[in-house]
Amino acid sequence: MLDWNHRQWSASQVSGSYGRDSRLFAPETVVLEWLGVGFQNRRILDIGVGGGRTTPHLLKISPHYVGIDYSEPMVRECLRQFPDVDFRVADARDLQEFAAEPFDFVLFSYNGIDNLNHEDRMKCLAEIRGVVAQDGAFVFSSHNRNRDRIPKPWSLEHFDFQRNPTLNPLKLARRSLNYAAGQLNNLRLSRQERYTEEYAIINDSGDQYRFLSYHISAEKQIAQLARVGFEVEMIIDTQGRVLDLAMARDITESWMIYYVCRPLKRSLRLS
Ligand SMILES: C[S@@+](CC[C@H](N)C(=O)[O-])C[C@H]1O[C@@H](n2cnc3c(N)ncnc32)[C@H](O)[C@@H]1O
Repeated sequence: MLDWNHRQWSASQVSGSYGRDSRLFAPETVVLEWLGVGFQNRRILDIGVGGGRTTPHLLKISPHYVGIDYSEPMVRECLRQFPDVDFRVADARDLQEFAAEPFDFVLFSYNGIDNLNHEDRMKCLAEIRGVVAQDGAFVFSSHNRNRDRIPKPWSLEHFDFQRNPTLNPLKLARRSLNYAAGQLNNLRLSRQERYTEEYAIINDSGDQYRFLSYHISAEKQIAQLARVGFEVEMIIDTQGRVLDLAMARDITESWMIYYVCRPLKRSLRLS
């Protein structure tokens, strides 16, 4: 799973498309507002920075910013846009190069962590715990296993006729190609799907079924974070609504969830 996803992120058509957009998602706007209050000029690590979508927003909060990604083309894309910023090729499963100087804020946005299998995810969370200052924060998002449903690769909803009934021929041709690619990808990857009590590895519809992604419910994610020494302070849905932690088990509308976490006090850490 890891090698496959890594190869996809290093493919030029994927890395190229990620450098074109710097718009924030609604939950990220909420996080940025929250950050603006106590994190000005503090140390920031942006993991899985991709094409640098979040970079300009975080630079407004602090110039002490490092962006990392395990995809070299992604890091090159970031450096092309922001030549004076500290971007490095690094893997989130090994953050030892940062251990001596912890960060006040660590971000792993847009489900980047879901590219890892379960063992690597746990290793990555433990590594992140090791580089977040005791009074710092870690924010990331993950696919919600309890979402309503994932569209089937053959579903005609991929053409989006409802919102867009008169597609021009060029768009129709592009969507037809994507539709075919989605079916081929799903044929190849769906056999590797895995369902356990805690999580599922699913070949979902994003990027034409190109990836195998980790899905977990908010309830299980909160418990998983406690095992590596994080306590969840806030969860936010795709529409930017801050949700009641006690309702974590019932979140079905949001396909991804943003988690705002704080290091647990050492004495409270579960083994
Ligand atoms: C969905 S993209 C998100 C990019 C960017 N953060 C954004 O929100 O637009 C996920 C990114 O995470 C990176 N990534 C995935 N696993 C990683 C790992 N183990 N270490 C570093 N980067 C990783 C991928 O290369 C990809 O650029």
